[in-house]
Amino acid sequence: MAGGGPGAFIGPVHRMAAELDGKIRLVAGAFSRDPAKSAAAGRAWGLADDRAYPDVAAMIAAEAARPDGAELLAVVTPNHLHFEAAAAALKAGLHVMSDKPATLSLAEARELAGIVRGSGRLYGLTYVYTGYPMVREAREIVRRGDLGAVRKIVVEYSQGWLSEPIERSGNPQAAWRADPARAGAGGCIGDIGVHAFNIAEFVGGARVERLCADVAAVAPGRTLDDDCNVLLRFEGGARGVLIASQISAGARNGLRINVYGEKGGLGWSHERPNELTVDWLEGPSQTLHAGSPYLGAAARGATRLPTGHPEGFIEAFANLYGDFADAIAQGRANADMVPDINDGLRGMAFVETAVAASRDERGWVALEGEAACVR
Ligand SMILES: NC(=O)c1ccc[n+]([C@@H]2O[C@H](COP(=O)([O-])OP(=O)(O)OC[C@H]3O[C@@H](n4cnc5c(N)ncnc54)[C@H](O)[C@@H]3O)[C@@H](O)[C@H]2O)c1
Repeated sequence: MAGGGPGAFIGPVHRMAAELDGKIRLVAGAFSRDPAKSAAAGRAWGLADDRAYPDVAAMIAAEAARPDGAELLAVVTPNHLHFEAAAAALKAGLHVMSDKPATLSLAEARELAGIVRGSGRLYGLTYVYTGYPMVREAREIVRRGDLGAVRKIVVEYSQGWLSEPIERSGNPQAAWRADPARAGAGGCIGDIGVHAFNIAEFVGGARVERLCADVAAVAPGRTLDDDCNVLLRFEGGARGVLIASQISAGARNGLRINVYGEKGGLGWSHERPNELTVDWLEGPSQTLHAGSPYLGAAARGATRLPTGHPEGFIEAFANLYGDFADAIAQGRANADMVPDINDGLRGMAFVETAVAASRDERGWVALEGEAACVR
């Protein structure tokens, strides 16, 4: 693991999720750039002293040289270190599971894509919402054509935790997210807008071709955006709206998606993740429940418990790790349901295109050039 030191948010989630099904075990880490904190994290997680490293490069070199060395690197540092850690690991023969966004910039993502393709190793990206069973069911319903042709996609990801400038009063998660050198060109859009963008393409089954973005820094004194409103046009003609905000005071982690076709629409909300509603133009509404035998294979394969027993965020991460571990064990060239470097490229293209187009007030622009993420 790179990152995930004392007080970190997502590193411990990765550890719990990776280990949940017994297919992956944490064996080493460079958990912090402070060697004492890295050692403390290693001790807390029961690692041998010599496998808590003072920096990522030293860890990769040492692990690659051990006969029992790590095979997979989890990248859970702030964004500016993703490229360096992932590239070094791939070059040393390790697989990589990185948190999003893939890199600090689109240029770095393009370079990383070349490294991934030349490495013969797997690269996964934890757009975690793709790991939820009812998101996978939604995707299957759309792909099966049950709704008819998709006409409209509405995706909203609203949080309120950055309503005040807490990056200036010592909140470590807010501090790097508000700093372009560590977060990248996007603030909110790079942090949660990319999740909304990814889930819209994943469930909607079509790529965004054009967008019209209003990306703003609302809280006084903030450099990077904290509120984003983007109109979307998908290949095939569907229209969409994407909202991502971190100044929606009172909102917690409000991700929801609605997809409307010719015959009906479906809706999923992260605050009730084990349900999926399907509303029909002509017919009664349905609520589908995770863990039920009537669901498709992708959703059924993504639960561990019978219906009515809630699973959530950690299990969704674990689904990505489980699929990834299976692909590694079977020597496959990709891990079917796990977002990959193509999704990473699209996310970075989305961030940079929307930020620049909004800044220059260019209205509708093309989202060009990156590989398909719709698999
Ligand atoms: N997929 C998701 O749902 C999700 C959720 C939260 C965060 N994230 C992503 O995860 C990453 C981490 O976010 P976070 O909220 O956990 O941040 P955080 O600030 O809580 O944790 C970052 C960790 O990285 C460590 N670190 C910093 N520099 C380092 C270095 N040079 N070497 C080793 N470790 C170093 C810090 O000590 C800290 O432990 C970000 O890229 C973020 O976008 C993804």
